[in-house]
Amino acid sequence: MSIDILTKAFHQVDWRRLEQVHEAAAAALPVLAEPAELGRLWDRMEEDEQLAASAEAFNTFQKFVLQDDPETGVRLRLHIFGDHMVEEAHNHRASFSSLILRGSYRHVLYGNVEDIWGDENRPAQAPDPRFIQEQLPGSSYTLDNAFVHAVYANPGTISLVIQGPRDRSSFRIYDFVEGTTRTRVGGSNAKEAQEPGERKIGRAELGTVRLKLAELGLLA
Ligand SMILES: [Fe+2]
Repeated sequence: MSIDILTKAFHQVDWRRLEQVHEAAAAALPVLAEPAELGRLWDRMEEDEQLAASAEAFNTFQKFVLQDDPETGVRLRLHIFGDHMVEEAHNHRASFSSLILRGSYRHVLYGNVEDIWGDENRPAQAPDPRFIQEQLPGSSYTLDNAFVHAVYANPGTISLVIQGPRDRSSFRIYDFVEGTTRTRVGGSNAKEAQEPGERKIGRAELGTVRLKLAELGLLA
């Protein structure tokens, strides 16, 4: 079963050791991304009240939580990018590994959040890119929660993501267009949608998305 693959790959992983995380993700993600496995994971998600209720649309992508292990804090998520691009750089609450299944995105890396932006109470400056890469189907990477990045995805890009335990209570975002900084807390700490354009994805829409993913041959 799919979840066993995930549990087995990550049960001894120390999320502070990114090379361990990357090795485990490299072993597990391609197997979980096989259409039959992904189909099983999707259907299991739809049958689980809590997982199904975790589906959310953000400004740039839709997030579907396929597994959430409260003991280890490890979560498996499917991301589907839309056609709305946002020029923002941010770090994360948790480190993660990502595998691109379809489409592509430009991935820009800037540096550690504390190094480039300093104290959280002071406004952030526009960061300079230090690394730019085109992420293509089949490519994967692992990113520390402290590292600030930006993603410019082509519409319809889909990725499978393993997220580790949350190391931070919040993360920072820099908006290149407005030149402003903001700090966000995690979804579970926020009572409502934190930004315009964010919404929960209901059951009817889950069914529509499943059909679309099946049409694309991503799940069976
Ligand atoms: Fe990100």
